[in-house]
Amino acid sequence: MAEPFSVPESTVVVTGGARGIGRAIAARFLREGAASVVVADRDSEEIDRTATELGARAHPMTLDVTDEAAVAAAVARVEEEHGPIDLWCSNAGVGAGVDLGDDESWDVSWRVHVLAHVYAARALTGRMVERGRGHILLTSSAAGLLSNLSSAPYSVTKHGAVALAEWLAIRYGDDGIGVSCLCPQGVNTAMTAGDGDRTAGTRLGDAYLEPEDVAESVVAALGEGRFLILPHPEVADYEQRRAQDRDRWIGGMRRAWSKIRGSSGGRG
Ligand SMILES: NC(=O)c1ccc[n+]([C@@H]2O[C@H](COP(=O)([O-])OP(=O)(O)OC[C@H]3O[C@@H](n4cnc5c(N)ncnc54)[C@H](O)[C@@H]3O)[C@@H](O)[C@H]2O)c1
Repeated sequence: MAEPFSVPESTVVVTGGARGIGRAIAARFLREGAASVVVADRDSEEIDRTATELGARAHPMTLDVTDEAAVAAAVARVEEEHGPIDLWCSNAGVGAGVDLGDDESWDVSWRVHVLAHVYAARALTGRMVERGRGHILLTSSAAGLLSNLSSAPYSVTKHGAVALAEWLAIRYGDDGIGVSCLCPQGVNTAMTAGDGDRTAGTRLGDAYLEPEDVAESVVAALGEGRFLILPHPEVADYEQRRAQDRDRWIGGMRRAWSKIRGSSGGRG
């Protein structure tokens, strides 16, 4: 386990912070007493509005997380203006690609769900190693541990995010850097607004959570220094079943897909 992360007085950055899970996490950190929370998003209008609503300790930053130079500059600027970054939540995500997807959806999914985390880690690890402390949280998805039946690009790149988070935790654990990986199933946000009957995707019949429930899990897990953050605890059981018997798990997922196809006409 990593060192428990303590929110009060900390400097935190949350990407994809304009709305949804990122916004709820930022709000929760502010309630827990963070000194500064920089909410970063490529949506400049919404990020300004969100920061204003979150109050004086929230600071908006327009940032495209797939632009490595911009990410490096953002890290330098935050540290100059607010002090050492204690926690970077690499949370921005996209719901791109239906079924096997096209090249464009693979490209954007890869850049946002994998490369953006690499860019953040490149900019942060040197500074954090030097200080002997710091925490990086990567938002993946239950799809990164299991599968997302609707979208191969989403599923595969979220698996990449889990693999990267594990790699970072192993590589930098002894340097004092804590790493966590957030893997929710369905959450009520703009990303899932088009989920139709909501039996599709990774959810497979389990309840959708609110972003605030996810924020609650994040704060609890960080406080315990846990790597894997599972707002839907049943995902741990699904993952175990997958690891124990892949053939059986794939059989179960095929039955789930066939049910979804029957009820939603194939979009999933
Ligand atoms: N909603 C769910 O059911 C669910 C489930 C599992 C994982 N997740 C993950 O949680 C994270 C947050 O998702 P959400 O549901 O809050 O979605 P959302 O669509 O409400 O918010 C995502 C935010 O990311 C921002 N963003 C996208 N690309 C960006 C880029 N290149 N640079 C900067 N910002 C960018 C968007 O502008 C948006 O504000 C994502 O990584 C998503 O994959 C969501």
